[in-house]
Amino acid sequence: MVTETKRRTRCGGRPTTIRSLATYVPPRVLSNADLEKMVDTSNEWILQRTGIRERHLVDPGVATSDLAAHAATDAIARSGLAPDDLGFIVVGTVTPDMMFPSTACLLQHKIGAHRAWGFDLSAACSAFTYALTTASQIVSTGAHEHALVVGADVMSSIIDYQDRSTCVLFGDGAGAVIVSAAAGPDDGAILDFEHEIDGAGAPALCMPAGGSLNPPTHETIDRRMHYVKQDGATVFKFAVRKTEEIARRVLDRNGLTPRDLDLFVSHQANQRIILSATEKLGVDPAKVIINIARFGNTTAATIPLALNDAVASKRLKKGDLVLLASVGAGFTVGAVLVRWGF
Ligand code: ACO
Repeated sequence: MVTETKRRTRCGGRPTTIRSLATYVPPRVLSNADLEKMVDTSNEWILQRTGIRERHLVDPGVATSDLAAHAATDAIARSGLAPDDLGFIVVGTVTPDMMFPSTACLLQHKIGAHRAWGFDLSAACSAFTYALTTASQIVSTGAHEHALVVGADVMSSIIDYQDRSTCVLFGDGAGAVIVSAAAGPDDGAILDFEHEIDGAGAPALCMPAGGSLNPPTHETIDRRMHYVKQDGATVFKFAVRKTEEIARRVLDRNGLTPRDLDLFVSHQANQRIILSATEKLGVDPAKVIINIARFGNTTAATIPLALNDAVASKRLKKGDLVLLASVGAGFTVGAVLVRWGF
């Protein structure tokens, strides 16, 4: 094992660690066969081009804070803490319950975290890596002992189920982790991070209406501007290039090679993006977790959902070195290097 204290990383302050993890997806499943009845598509096309078989969708009236509350409540229980032990909450999402108040406020109230402050973080598919870094930095300064990090999205609320190029890709879900100060080397650690934004990519993936640029009008509704619009090929190429690049940068800075990793957890946007990026990076495919078949792209929730599957299948164990990587709308790019703590 490389000695973590000898590395030069962006993580100053006291060490922090992921203390617990929990996820939630709504029970209703939308299969590729269901989509065949809704748009001109086929199970074969979706499977071959994306790797997705099914995704979970909320029923009407269920919002992002509801999914977040399920995951957060379980993560808090698994950590052995009480809601009042939390000092800080960050919710990564592009589908807040409403424009304001923040989903973090709604979640704080639902879970009874009376002593926490917090906010929402908008970084699309990179929201979980961004939120994890944000919480880790706040705990590392000593400002708070325990923080709740949530990635949650109800993508079905902004997807056009008449647009076959996007509606097959996305699902709803939530994941939560508790970030705490690490008591010692056996506790694991959030070791390093790297993030980028590139606003030149904004037109390639966006929801054009509903904000201050195009407030809701009859015209914006008629033009279906309140749904995700995507130039899939542009996003695909950027995601492959940047997933590899940001992962390599974090590994290089820490004197590591892909061989030193026990697990590589990418944002799950498309199986072909993950396979292509990890092949270029040179990660052993056995160390790459892909669970997009069951959930589709749940935006801020994909990385915790993948981590949860890895823990459940014992592919991720205490002491393992895991690299998280994400690319999302914005564009946003992120990577976080973690020594797993439980
Ligand atoms: N079923 C059948 N045919 C389809 C479907 C569908 N659901 N969607 C598109 N097609 C058709 C297109 O119309 C096109 O037909 P044409 O050649 O007659 O014009 C053909 O399939 C090929 O379309 P492409 O867009 O070239 O297909 P591609 O292989 O690039 O796959 C996809 C499209 C899956 C969207 C891919 O570009 C992609 O995954 N891009 C990344 C986007 C992404 O994952 N975004 C998520 C958010 S961002 C992030 O998480 C990184």
